[in-house]
Amino acid sequence: MKPIRKAVFPVGGLGTRFLPATKAIPKEMLPVVDKPLIQYAVEEAREAGIEEMIFVTGRGKSAIEDHFDIAYELETTMADRGKANDAIAGTRFRPGDVAYVRQQEPIGLGHAVWCARHIVGDEPFAIFLADELMIGEPGCMKQMVDAYHQTEGNIVCGYEVPADQTHNYGIVDPGEENGPLVEVKGLVEKPAQGSAPSNLMIPGRYILQPEVMRVLEDQERGAGNEIQLTDAMAQMIGDQPFHAYRFGGRRFDCGSKSGFINANIALALDHDDIADDVRAFVATL
Ligand code: UTP
Repeated sequence: MKPIRKAVFPVGGLGTRFLPATKAIPKEMLPVVDKPLIQYAVEEAREAGIEEMIFVTGRGKSAIEDHFDIAYELETTMADRGKANDAIAGTRFRPGDVAYVRQQEPIGLGHAVWCARHIVGDEPFAIFLADELMIGEPGCMKQMVDAYHQTEGNIVCGYEVPADQTHNYGIVDPGEENGPLVEVKGLVEKPAQGSAPSNLMIPGRYILQPEVMRVLEDQERGAGNEIQLTDAMAQMIGDQPFHAYRFGGRRFDCGSKSGFINANIALALDHDDIADDVRAFVATL
């Protein structure tokens, strides 16, 4: 079995739901408490044993490259002032462990993933949508990689949502269940209300075999006139093992305003230095 060594972070989207905040700043750089969303995703990848990071960027996303680069002025100034720079310790990669590829037009998640095909090469890889903040012990991708060691093939994360929300997401058509693993019989992107085959949505964590790149090569535009990853994955069902991993941790949809605010409040309560203040303030509202 080939290990999962590479992670793709598609960050080429326009983030229109968050305008004007995302006019000049990538959505993935919005902070939850004190860390940008993209860093949570990178840390989740590292926890899962993944070391090679591939970012699929677009115009106006250079802040992400700067975030994961050396900041000479900041680091030198902090050192001169005797300040520890632990806070930025997680923001560097080993030389050669990071690659940036540009998605020239944001025509869909499937297209963004396909833009990374030459760097991914012929091995299974993980995909992280950083605007979905997944909090678990261990982290979501670590749990998925552990499950992958049993099943091989393709694994998408699965997360239960109320029935009236399924039309917003890619949804799993479920087969047999074995603990947290659910056989995937089909996948539907944004099913019409009342027609979803289950309540199990796919919240932006995937382990896929490289064959998906060949499927994406010929993928027509789907929902929203975008090239959809869900449609390409659906075509692989039956050829290779395909499972959903039911994630039991916390999920915050930080691509939406309410999800983002909820994440900030919930994670603030996990920070001992500010939790009491935040709890007391929220109680006054
Ligand atoms: P979204 O559906 O959240 O789209 O993309 P978006 O453009 O980021 O945000 P809104 O809806 O306009 O507010 C899901 C993920 O896929 C990436 C996004 O960056 C996000 O991580 N994506 C989407 C791309 O990389 N390229 C695309 O063409 C579309």
